[in-house]
Amino acid sequence: MSSISLKNITKQYYPDSCAVKDLNLEIKHKEFIVLVGPSGCGKSTTLRMIAGLEEITEGSMYIDEKEVNSVEAKDRNIAIVFQDYALYPHMNVYNNMAFGLKMKKMKRDEIKERIEKTSEILDIKTLLYRYPSQLSGGEKQRVALGRAMVKEPKVFLLDEPLSNLDAGLKARMRLEIMTLHKKLDATFVYVTHDQTEAMTMADKIAVMKDGLVLQFDTPYNVYNNPNNIFVAKFIGSPRMNVFEAYVQCSENGVSINKDGEVISINNSDAERIKKYSNQKILAGVRPEHIKIHNDNNSEENFLSAKLYIKENSGHEIYYHFRSGKDEIDIVVRSVSEMDAVNNHEYKLWIDPEKVHFFDAENGNRI
Ligand SMILES: Nc1ncnc2c1ncn2[C@@H]1O[C@H](COP(=O)(O)OP(=O)(O)OP(=O)(O)O)[C@@H](O)[C@H]1O
Ligand SMILES: [Mg+2]
Repeated sequence: MSSISLKNITKQYYPDSCAVKDLNLEIKHKEFIVLVGPSGCGKSTTLRMIAGLEEITEGSMYIDEKEVNSVEAKDRNIAIVFQDYALYPHMNVYNNMAFGLKMKKMKRDEIKERIEKTSEILDIKTLLYRYPSQLSGGEKQRVALGRAMVKEPKVFLLDEPLSNLDAGLKARMRLEIMTLHKKLDATFVYVTHDQTEAMTMADKIAVMKDGLVLQFDTPYNVYNNPNNIFVAKFIGSPRMNVFEAYVQCSENGVSINKDGEVISINNSDAERIKKYSNQKILAGVRPEHIKIHNDNNSEENFLSAKLYIKENSGHEIYYHFRSGKDEIDIVVRSVSEMDAVNNHEYKLWIDPEKVHFFDAENGNRI
């Protein structure tokens, strides 16, 4: 078993600032957890505290319900893989993988057996007698993973392990790491600032900002029910469209009004946004929940917007518009190509069932 529990963890490098603030995470045995967030939000610091490489300023860390605050890194049965691989340059691949095991005084035969088994899984058998300088980035990364695997740890910590790889290799290694996770009886905590990696790999994602975890939830919930505006904008590419609107309540029902254009809200959201009557809120709509219309007579649930650029990714097209007095950007994702003309005004149909509402002051989901 290898559950990890972080209770009210705070890390201060300097007295006047916190790298991690009052962080709580409950990670179950064999879960694949991804910590995601912008640069400097405290991802690596959190990972290093789990590894025992960084002292905890306040709070308690448990592994399998045992407090480990003062347990040294080498006694935690955890392996960590870093972005820059951190291979020993003067040792060949075999010795890089053997090093940690030799330090533990493991028998030579057992070391050999473990390296053979691991190099088979990672397809690096033919590389065992090469030096790191003779390997490509992807091969180095696999060796770094192998060096962690031979220790047979109960927890794998991975800090941006794919960020030095090109797009194709990244996608392949992503699958390899996920396959590895399925095969091994270990818990994975994976750090990245790439939300696509987070969404595709995780059982649960912790979205971090300024040392805080803003949401710890499944990829589905983080995408479909973001609990604040930061998470809403951070997860998803192209990101969620967000605009300011006023809530209107009348005998005809509840609606939101942006620069005189009205979107009627008839579902259960109406009850929740009612209390913001005549007040400004933030409305968010994902690019796939907007449709482009040529019909200028459309009135309800539309926003007028001018097309300014069209991006074709091959399987999808992103139409970029500017809308309203404040000329906010609105992106529409479409699988079909249309004869769209730059600088032409279109009506964008907003799916009223798919609008997310956030408090304009604190950004929390309404
Ligand atoms: N050893 C250190 N001494 C002092 N401050 C540090 C140290 N390590 C990190 N910090 C600070 O703590 C904060 C969190 O850093 P951390 O490395 O955890 O961020 P991160 O989320 O991993 O960012 P990145 O995506 O850039 O790797 C940052 O403000 C950073 O400057
Ligand atoms: Mg980092």
